[in-house]
Amino acid sequence: MVLAHILTGLLASLAVAATFTQTPTGAYSTYAADSVISRGQGNGLTNGKPQVNYPDGEFQWALRLLFERGGNQSYFGWIQAGVNRIVSSTGQISSDYNLSAYTLDYLRLGPSFIYLYQMTGEQKYKTAADTFRSQLNTHPRTAQGQFWHKLIYPNQGWLDGIYMGEPFYAAYTAAFQPTNQTAWDDIHLQFSLMYENTVQLKSTNSHNTTSTGLLYHGYDHSHVQSWASPDRGHSPEVWDRALGWYSMALVDVLGLVPASQVALRSTLASQLQSIADNLVKQADNVTNAWWLVLTQPGRSGNYFESSGGCMFIYAMLRGVRLGYIKDTGGSIIAAAQRAFGYAISNWVIPKSNGTMDFNNTVIVGSLQPGNDYEYYISQQIDINDLKGVAAFVLASYEIEML
Ligand SMILES: *[C@@H]1O[C@H](CO)[C@@H](O)[C@H](O)[C@H]1NC(C)=O
Ligand SMILES: *[C@@H]1O[C@H](CO)[C@@H](O)[C@H](O)[C@H]1NC(C)=O
Ligand SMILES: *[C@@H]1O[C@H](CO)[C@@H](O)[C@H](O)[C@H]1NC(C)=O
Ligand SMILES: *[C@@H]1O[C@H](CO)[C@@H](O)[C@H](O)[C@H]1NC(C)=O
Ligand SMILES: *[C@@H]1O[C@H](CO)[C@@H](O)[C@H](O)[C@H]1NC(C)=O
Ligand SMILES: *[C@@H]1O[C@H](CO)[C@@H](O)[C@H](O)[C@H]1NC(C)=O
Ligand SMILES: *[C@@H]1O[C@H](CO)[C@@H](O)[C@H](O)[C@H]1NC(C)=O
Repeated sequence: MVLAHILTGLLASLAVAATFTQTPTGAYSTYAADSVISRGQGNGLTNGKPQVNYPDGEFQWALRLLFERGGNQSYFGWIQAGVNRIVSSTGQISSDYNLSAYTLDYLRLGPSFIYLYQMTGEQKYKTAADTFRSQLNTHPRTAQGQFWHKLIYPNQGWLDGIYMGEPFYAAYTAAFQPTNQTAWDDIHLQFSLMYENTVQLKSTNSHNTTSTGLLYHGYDHSHVQSWASPDRGHSPEVWDRALGWYSMALVDVLGLVPASQVALRSTLASQLQSIADNLVKQADNVTNAWWLVLTQPGRSGNYFESSGGCMFIYAMLRGVRLGYIKDTGGSIIAAAQRAFGYAISNWVIPKSNGTMDFNNTVIVGSLQPGNDYEYYISQQIDINDLKGVAAFVLASYEIEML
């Protein structure tokens, strides 16, 4: 099985090698990934201690794509070494994992457990995946059935949580319970509720028909949070990274759902189509990049943020390439290519030792009391934040696959 994967990857790499976007050291995807690895990032440790860390899961997803395309065993090795730091030889997950804290973030590592089990057959990875899967059986939900983002955020659905939970839920179901209809229907429910509760609708005020058609960061089903809108409970702004996570979840879960799940596939594809079409309209018409706060284009303090933008490029290009969405007139691919041009000119910083830095990733954005426009623009940006540079690897990979 391992050999078959490598051969497939090598053949695929010969086919696309001629079209790679060139850098001083090769394609941008491997330039960025090799830089992350040379800095020791995404290795399962935080401050020297094992930690179940969702950006590692995002980076491992990107490394898997690179490994399967080009056959570089170092990428597979980095995934396995990172996971081996948080999963013991008997399949115990490191002690920072607390099932009873009911945090969806942990689960983003789960697809790597399943992948390693499939590639190596080692039971410890299956045992660890089973532990994560058991969290979902008792994870608290809203009255409608949406998983709470975390136990400490009762009744709240965040777009971020869909990316943390659903690729794992779908990967587990596809691998071990492909005929569990309850699970597929539950995944369908998670996406449907999140979309319906957060999509920005046109105002019912006939004088104001402005709407991005995109998704607010999250919602509070109980409407008790200070940031919850009185009518629907959604938060006040569309934040680029939350929508980026959601867009990647749509495209990645579409890659996992069997063709027989027609209704689920249709929901995911139509959501992705609408988001991609609306993102084309929301790209800034001078720079071609997307604003940190998509609902406030051009407002003082707003800026072009790098993690969300790269997530959009990946989701849009992958959605078109794999035939999940239509790109009538080529506007989606064109918008993604223009935005990628902005990314490499503005956020990639070549270093003298042959690696690159990646700039302008906002460190955090969360739905705390007081969440508003000023909150988002006041958060620090960082260089080489793994959430951003992993998204850049994914975006570059899809640009190279065009
Ligand atoms: C394989 O990946 C490693 C780790 O990033 C990198 O150092 C190496 O140059 C890559 N090898 C090839 C042949 O690209
Ligand atoms: C390049 O320099 C960075 C620090 O700026 C360092 O973390 C990294 O390990 C170096 N990589 C190589 C390949 O020398
Ligand atoms: C796990 O999380 C629960 C819920 O927050 C908490 O009550 C418990 O003390 C935590 N356990 C550990 C070992 O931290
Ligand atoms: C199927 O999925 C549902 C929903 O997650 C779960 O409650 C149930 O235990 C699963 N069935 C089996 C046989 O594991
Ligand atoms: C128009 O409606 C949108 C969506 O409800 C709202 O976000 C925006 O603030 C409104 N604009 C004005 C000028 O009222
Ligand atoms: C760019 O968008 C702004 C509004 O955000 C608009 O005023 C301007 O006319 C547009 N420019 C072009 C060249 O389309
Ligand atoms: C990173 O981006 C920030 C904000 O755009 C800028 O102030 C800073 O100079 C950039 N850093 C580098 C090393 O280019």
